[in-house]
Amino acid sequence: MCGIVGFVGNENCTDILVEALKRLEYRGYDSAGIAVFENEKIKTVKAKGKINDGLVQKLGTVGKPDGCCGIAHTRWATHGEPSDVNSHPLGNERVSIVHNGIIENYREIKAFLQSKGYTFESETDTETVAKLLDYYFKGDPIEAIISTMNEIRGAYALGILFRDCPDKIFAIRKESPLIIGKGENCNFIASDMTAILDYTREYYLLEQNEIAVISSDEIEFSDIHRMSIEKELKIADWDAEAAKKGGYEHFMLKEIHEQPEVVGKTISARIKDGLPSLEECGVTDEMLCSYKNIYIVGCGSAMHAGIVGKYVIEDIARTPVIVDIASEFRYRNPLVTADDLVIIISQSGETADTLEALKYAKRVGADTLAVVNVVGSSIAREANRVMYTLAGPEISVCSTKAYAVQIALMYVIAFRLAYAKKTITEDECRKLTQELLTVPENIQKCIDNTEIYQYVASNLVNAESLLYIGRGLDYALSMEGSLKLKEISYIHSESYAAGELKHGTISLISDGVPVIAVATQRNLFEKTQSNVKEVKSRGAKVVMVCHEETEVDKTCVDFKIGLPTISDLLMPLITVVPLQLIAYYTSVLRGNDVDMPRNLAKSVTVE
Ligand code: AGP
Ligand code: GLU
Repeated sequence: MCGIVGFVGNENCTDILVEALKRLEYRGYDSAGIAVFENEKIKTVKAKGKINDGLVQKLGTVGKPDGCCGIAHTRWATHGEPSDVNSHPLGNERVSIVHNGIIENYREIKAFLQSKGYTFESETDTETVAKLLDYYFKGDPIEAIISTMNEIRGAYALGILFRDCPDKIFAIRKESPLIIGKGENCNFIASDMTAILDYTREYYLLEQNEIAVISSDEIEFSDIHRMSIEKELKIADWDAEAAKKGGYEHFMLKEIHEQPEVVGKTISARIKDGLPSLEECGVTDEMLCSYKNIYIVGCGSAMHAGIVGKYVIEDIARTPVIVDIASEFRYRNPLVTADDLVIIISQSGETADTLEALKYAKRVGADTLAVVNVVGSSIAREANRVMYTLAGPEISVCSTKAYAVQIALMYVIAFRLAYAKKTITEDECRKLTQELLTVPENIQKCIDNTEIYQYVASNLVNAESLLYIGRGLDYALSMEGSLKLKEISYIHSESYAAGELKHGTISLISDGVPVIAVATQRNLFEKTQSNVKEVKSRGAKVVMVCHEETEVDKTCVDFKIGLPTISDLLMPLITVVPLQLIAYYTSVLRGNDVDMPRNLAKSVTVE
């Protein structure tokens, strides 16, 4: 979760690096910096704060380096607070690097280097790698890199400058993402393609234990035995425009509005002759019937999508589903075996916790299916099978359309599994699948109902804390609604099973405490309404999200958000929209940076 860019070409690269870096700012933004060869010396400019607030201001003060080869970084700190000195690039006059990841044995390396007379200016783990490269550099950069790779442990994507090679950038990676872009008389390194789409769509995926050496007209790959490697040149099919705001005030709003289209695309691409199909990932009906358990593993919204998957799969396909937070999964000695399917959900496909959980699942022999949005990402490449969500680039740190397409694929998988196991008839499967295809138009109806969300947001904007409650699938959605609100409005909230409130947490209710009751599951509505009465009688301000046709008790519901009616089973695909937009408008009213909320990063590539 940081952004790395490098450029080597025949024109001044400072502005190119800064603009490309801005496209990656969603990956982490507590500080930023560049290092550019100027008159064969490495000139470094870096500053705490977002790119425009820190680095750009500083470049205006000290002047832009004048050179054609450089590296740049926008940071999400893991070791050492955000500060000028802890910003990347880091190193010395001979070696300068930018790093995404965590060096796990940096303390030992630092002590070793200090014993060799090295001093350290920053508190970062990264600086130890820069100085180790310097220690091993005796004139041959590749040798220095290989020696360093043999010693460091952890996750890294590195862009490296050696003073003695003023027209080259060196790059290596392990766990953290890095691609090599091929341009016209110029070449790039970047954390992902969004940084360089304005310049090229051609790129190489750098694999673990590979070394890339790029100059303005050449890209060379070798392995750690210095053997040359030929690699496949790939073409990014993302539209450069798609990675821009398209007239919306924030990426988040744009991406919410893209949901009808991308949910429709993601579903329809898996419907063959009126039935859901998993052919693309090689999962047959026989295999589906053979899985004893299904584990669904992810973080944040991806994990929440897994919870929707659990409810739906267990309800109609009757296969046990265990949902795990990725960072917990491999440390709890899970009962997963080779008889199980592990579904790994990740928008970025680079989340370290999730990637490590995937590796754990593979080690025990489970079949692994990645549900991922970023093509060619580490998780997509590591899993036995992959189903891509077709959301396109999601730039806002707050996940919206990526969550929507993740739960859409949960339905596709659940319906095919139920059909394969004959827990539903073919006719029932066809009906459910047909209804699934009506979801996009219903999402659009929700999006169009903007005023009510703005009105509700205006009643939440000064809240100190609030509760999201629901039962069944509504409880699963309340988790996602709560996370959305917390991460972009900074208002504390908690999701709670509506029936569980009375067992303690209801003590938090006092006059004016907002409670958002998600009540779309009509078989549970009466029970949820009783819970709403419990909180209302203790002073809560109640927002109820339910079917438009639902008759609510106006004495206990202050605001009703009515939704278009489809089967309760499919309602999560619609219910999430008001929850996203309530969070969005609350954040806007609070004047927050909606797309880059404090402390967060789009892809958490450290554990
Ligand atoms: C969602 O709004 C958050 N930004 C965060 O919880 C995110 O879902 C989580 O970090 C997982 O990311 P991934 O889907 O890229 O693995
Ligand atoms: N661990 C490094 C640091 O704290 C890199 C963090 C990142 O990936 O941005 O500076």
